[in-house]
Amino acid sequence: MMFKRLFFILSLMFLMPVWAGKVIKVVTSANFPPYEFHQNGQIVGVDIDIIREVLRRNGMEMVVEDMKFDSIIVAIQTGKGDIAASGLTVTEDRKREVDFSVTYVQAKQVIIVREDSDIAAPQDLQGRKIGVQSGTTGDTFVTENIGNPQRFDDASTAVAALKSGKLDAVVLDYEPARVHVARNAGLKLLDEPLTSEEYAFAVAKGNRELLEMINKTLQEMIADGTIENIRAKYEKVTDIEVAETDPDGSFKDDLYTVFVKNARWRYLCNGLKVTLLVAFFSVILGVSIGFFVAIIRSTADTTGKLKIANFLCKVYLMIIRGTPVVLQLLIIYFVVFGSMDVDKVLVAIIAFGINSGAYVAEIIRSGIMSIDRGQMEAGRSLGLSYSKTMILVILPQALKNVLPALGNEFIVLLKETSVCGFIALEDLTKGGDVIRSQTYNAFLPLIAVALVYLVLVMTFSFALEKLEKRLKKNE
Ligand code: ARG
Repeated sequence: MMFKRLFFILSLMFLMPVWAGKVIKVVTSANFPPYEFHQNGQIVGVDIDIIREVLRRNGMEMVVEDMKFDSIIVAIQTGKGDIAASGLTVTEDRKREVDFSVTYVQAKQVIIVREDSDIAAPQDLQGRKIGVQSGTTGDTFVTENIGNPQRFDDASTAVAALKSGKLDAVVLDYEPARVHVARNAGLKLLDEPLTSEEYAFAVAKGNRELLEMINKTLQEMIADGTIENIRAKYEKVTDIEVAETDPDGSFKDDLYTVFVKNARWRYLCNGLKVTLLVAFFSVILGVSIGFFVAIIRSTADTTGKLKIANFLCKVYLMIIRGTPVVLQLLIIYFVVFGSMDVDKVLVAIIAFGINSGAYVAEIIRSGIMSIDRGQMEAGRSLGLSYSKTMILVILPQALKNVLPALGNEFIVLLKETSVCGFIALEDLTKGGDVIRSQTYNAFLPLIAVALVYLVLVMTFSFALEKLEKRLKKNE
């Protein structure tokens, strides 16, 4: 049953590229209220409403894809997204990379500090610890004019760090800054802005048709007041549901806000599903690759045949074991599947499967090597072929010997999938991050996610132990 469903999902993934393209893909970084943020499991906000209306007026539909802000421009360039709607400021640098629509909002960078701060104006920022969202114009401004800032993936983590005294200031766009200050007692905005900016949507360079459509409709919407209405709808910052946990509230209240309210536990459940799906299929892929490579390598070592295959395997092992898995994941996502529309779960399975395969290969090879040479000779002299002896005599014993090492590899793999968030795949870890960014509570989501991994690994270890005992008995 379970298997059938998994395979159904997998085959859907393979088919995905075929029907994709009919729907416009909007990319955003949904940690930027009131422009884009998570609410009740959905991504909403000014940008989202505006672009949806633009597309609706042209008879189109859209899907929204959430990612790290500093991946957005690349996503547009590589075709991972058609339109960026992300409170994106028009800058000269960015104009070289993507095409911008007409602008629809005036914006500015402002400074958030603690109420008791001695920072009163921009010039007081020199030499202080400043937090920004990575890749934003706030980041650029601070980097160029003040000094190296601390770069966070999302503003709410930076604000949390400011609140707890780890930073002296946060530089952020005015409207999101207002939301953060309204939600966090003890913070204030400084009056003097650092920059003056304008937001626009972005499309891939040269995508004339799409850009003209956006521009035409956007101008209509500016003229007929639609933009203003949409902004007004999100005006009351206190209506924006980014419920922080109350610093004076009880632990029980916190538990409620973090997990129960707005069914936030669903981020963890959905994340868990993704984590398990990715881990399960990459183990299968990894073991298959591992077996294949191990057999080639040990055959080449003992018989001197398969020279070219052996060489290729060595290159594979070298590259995969010589580079971090996060980079492999990013390369497979952005480069290998660059302009292809492939489901991220599939991308992750391929990346982790290929990665794990390298380690599994060496584990299995060490198992094969541990088997006495006499076994192969015995098998051959009984009239079994090389491959028959390998499969029937050597491999079963080898596997038994390396079972603990293999188990270890699977545990590592399961936890390693926690970097899925880098391609904005909402796995378990990322699910916890979303809750953290919504509630400003760092403690509970992190601990909860850690516990879930722990339980998973414990269950797995237990099952493995059972298996080892069974195999022992059968000896
Ligand atoms: N306006 C700034 C920029 O373009 C910040 C935008 C951040 N947007 C977001 N969705 N987090 O760099």
